[in-house]
Amino acid sequence: MRLFNDGWHFAKNASENFIPVEIPHDWLIGDVNNLYEAGLGFYKKNFYADSSFEDRRIFIRFDGVMMDCRLYVNDRIVGEWKYGYTAFEFDITDYLVAFDENTLLLEINYKSPCSRWYTGAGIYRDVFLVEKGLAYFLSDGIYITPKKQNDGSWVVDVTAEAEANGQSYETRHQIVETGSMVVRNASLWDIDSPHLYHLKSELLIDGIVVDSVITRFGLREIDFKSDKGFFLNNRNLKLKGVCLHHDLGALGAAVHKDAIVRQLLILREMGVNAIRTAHNPPARVFMELCDEMGFLVLSELLDMWRLPKNEYDYARFFDEWIERDVASWIRRDRNCPSVIMWSIGNEIQDTHADASHGEATLRSLVKMVREHDPGNHAPITLCSNYMLWENTQKCMDILKIAGYNYTEQLYDEHHAAFPDWVIYGSETFSTTQSRGVYHFPLSKPVLADDDKQCSALGNCTTSWGTQDIEECLLADIDNHYSMGQFIWAGHDYIGEPTPYHTKSSYLGHIDTAGFPKDSYYIIKAAWTDEPMVHVFPYWDFSPGQPIDIRVCTNMPKVELLLNGESLGVREPEGRLIADWCIPYEPGELRAVAYDINDNAIIETVRCSFGDVDEIKWDAKPVGELIFAAISAVDKDGNPVENASNRVYIDVKNGELIGLDNGDSTDLEQYQGTDNRRLFNGKLLAVIKPHKDKIPDISVRVCNKDIPIRKIELTSSGYEIKAEIFPANATYSDLQWRLTDVGGIDSHLGEIKISPDSLSAKVIPTADGDVYIRCGAGNGREYVAFYTHIIKTITGFGHSFLNPYEFISGGLYSNSNVVLTNGNERGVATLQDGDSIVCFSGLDFGDNGSDEVTFGLFPLSNEPFTFEIWEGDSQSGKHLLDAYYDKGSTWNTYINVTYKLSRRLVGVTAFYVVFKQKVHIKGFQFTKDN
Ligand code: GAL
Repeated sequence: MRLFNDGWHFAKNASENFIPVEIPHDWLIGDVNNLYEAGLGFYKKNFYADSSFEDRRIFIRFDGVMMDCRLYVNDRIVGEWKYGYTAFEFDITDYLVAFDENTLLLEINYKSPCSRWYTGAGIYRDVFLVEKGLAYFLSDGIYITPKKQNDGSWVVDVTAEAEANGQSYETRHQIVETGSMVVRNASLWDIDSPHLYHLKSELLIDGIVVDSVITRFGLREIDFKSDKGFFLNNRNLKLKGVCLHHDLGALGAAVHKDAIVRQLLILREMGVNAIRTAHNPPARVFMELCDEMGFLVLSELLDMWRLPKNEYDYARFFDEWIERDVASWIRRDRNCPSVIMWSIGNEIQDTHADASHGEATLRSLVKMVREHDPGNHAPITLCSNYMLWENTQKCMDILKIAGYNYTEQLYDEHHAAFPDWVIYGSETFSTTQSRGVYHFPLSKPVLADDDKQCSALGNCTTSWGTQDIEECLLADIDNHYSMGQFIWAGHDYIGEPTPYHTKSSYLGHIDTAGFPKDSYYIIKAAWTDEPMVHVFPYWDFSPGQPIDIRVCTNMPKVELLLNGESLGVREPEGRLIADWCIPYEPGELRAVAYDINDNAIIETVRCSFGDVDEIKWDAKPVGELIFAAISAVDKDGNPVENASNRVYIDVKNGELIGLDNGDSTDLEQYQGTDNRRLFNGKLLAVIKPHKDKIPDISVRVCNKDIPIRKIELTSSGYEIKAEIFPANATYSDLQWRLTDVGGIDSHLGEIKISPDSLSAKVIPTADGDVYIRCGAGNGREYVAFYTHIIKTITGFGHSFLNPYEFISGGLYSNSNVVLTNGNERGVATLQDGDSIVCFSGLDFGDNGSDEVTFGLFPLSNEPFTFEIWEGDSQSGKHLLDAYYDKGSTWNTYINVTYKLSRRLVGVTAFYVVFKQKVHIKGFQFTKDN
């Protein structure tokens, strides 16, 4: 088998005007503003056949084509393949012409939407040519089952599938390293020492070797215990896992081995030992790397079965293709020692909403997996968010290895009810965070904000994910029966920009450019032992502004010092984070971590900084690629951690193949450009050196596009002044708002903005705290970032809410359970049980109203009824059982209007009761004329 990536040409939409491309190739990544464009793609390759085909067979093998393709050879159709994530192979011998030019043409019919995330499109993984004689081993036909003997040695069992065209044949196998089928003094495959062996298999006809293949394998024992979790080589090991999608940021879906290596190295630093390939089989090279680098892999097949999640997803092919896809999935990777579980699906609705078919499909998938992995090299699991309900529980009871998505609260009850289940968190966390973005205060959780960013402080939680990652990490470590968890997500990925409609996810703990966010260090504190300490946020705010400072460490004590003065020693006592809140003062923030004997072990410093003086870059080679981290420093050499200057990159002796700053809101191109803005002080340039050359990189800052990096606010009474940094910024587009702590428009006053927009005045009307927000557009429609100052209004008395104007869900006054954030500053109810959400202090006036419009975003499609009551939840009067049947569109609120059985008049309260997870954006009553 040899790589067959060279010499391909590509054309979009019609089979003409081909241009040369490098395979692996993703034709969608070239236009960031059109990442989901449906269309046809054609790949063509000509090659000369310099011998006859009488005594040989030629196969072409694609490791992955996105998605739905047909192969033509010399204009004759050879075959087709549907799923974008499984490998396939065609025997093309009979289509080829010997001693002549031959043409391969692969046509792809990429339909959209075919997935919940960015898939890319094209021949995005390697292509191979396989040349064989007339008798040969089938590709992926060698299956090696190592067995440990009582004396400690290992013996390998091998089955080999061959095609010999009716001739009788023999097979011969031996382990290359030992020359036999036995390994004594075995070097085991383990995460710290991923030792690999090789099996040489020979096919003989009449005693003559006619085919020979080498297959890599490892010697390892895995075990799954319902009361103790996972064991690798008889050692109890917590799975410290992350879920990972397949794209590589600026490089798109096109597989670059070195970019994967870089991703894995960054994850390893965080303490990761396991990867869940969400939600599909990964590239072959990914598996090779996990085998070589010692990562455990939970290899997943699909995100849906028969019930679709998107119009054009694989559900449309399921019945006809599933057997071929399962075969391909298992057979390619079944000898990989890194694979510890086969997941037959993620959040599969069939197991929940279509009980009988769901269970039947599950049983047939189990059968298919076992057919190709009869030796149980890895057990079968399912990763589900439906664990609360009986139908999925019944399915899990067949598998016994139960992956819980965001339902850790069920562990204890299920461990008691199903004592033979092996429980683990197949998906946890799903908090959102943008690198270097901090929305204060820490105590106020908010999901969506004006800058379309998510606060990295730890206060940007989703309604289904954990509300506290520290808690989630510690609880899992303490749980003796849980196998561990797979955090959503390791790296950010393109698509699913929850809670916005921007470009890439906020759910990762490393951005798409590979730069860690602060949460990365919290996970590292939980998962690694080497002493570490990390302090955030960066240190550059308005003097006097209250700033939450968080220090995370794996050491028992930590001290925080500002300008040399101690702010106290904290003992996180088995926890990971210590918090302070102090008024900002420029200078140096130093966090020192101590051992139990009060020895200072490690420290970290964050300094205030000024405007950008110089651009620096740190170029790291990984394999053949160079990853250059570009950053800005001030005149004293301090990193300017909020700089967003545009920089130009010039590369000699190499090609700039991608630029990424990790900013989901930035819609400038990843490729084909030599300039980008930094995002919070950082930008990544990916460079491919010319053959045998060392690239010469130079970076210069643009002086025509100097964005505002900081706004300093000062106040005198209700007058607020803004000063912008740098003073010579190209932009002066400040935007002001008067809000409450969560960014909801305040009803306690108004704000008047000066003509130059550099100052604003609050006109107070009622008592309470107001937040005066000032943001900079930097040339965009909405603010690129904002800052605030707090004012307490007194002496104006109390005010009621006006129900004839939109009332945000986030303004609810109380609830029977702890509610979570909804999109767009709404509120979200719980998945089960009654969630009572009360709104008090509404002034309906004398005339009143009996018609209300809600903005709702339910998380599931099924119709439901919720109750509307007047009063508080103790003494309410029932107004309506409101029916909702508009389904669920991700991150989208639907307006629904209801007529109530009575009018609400005067000052009163009302509440709603939901029995399922729904985001409530807010409501507005209709005012009669
Ligand atoms: C899960 C889902 C993932 C991803 C995640 C975002 O429910 O399995 O694919 O969408 O939510 O929080």
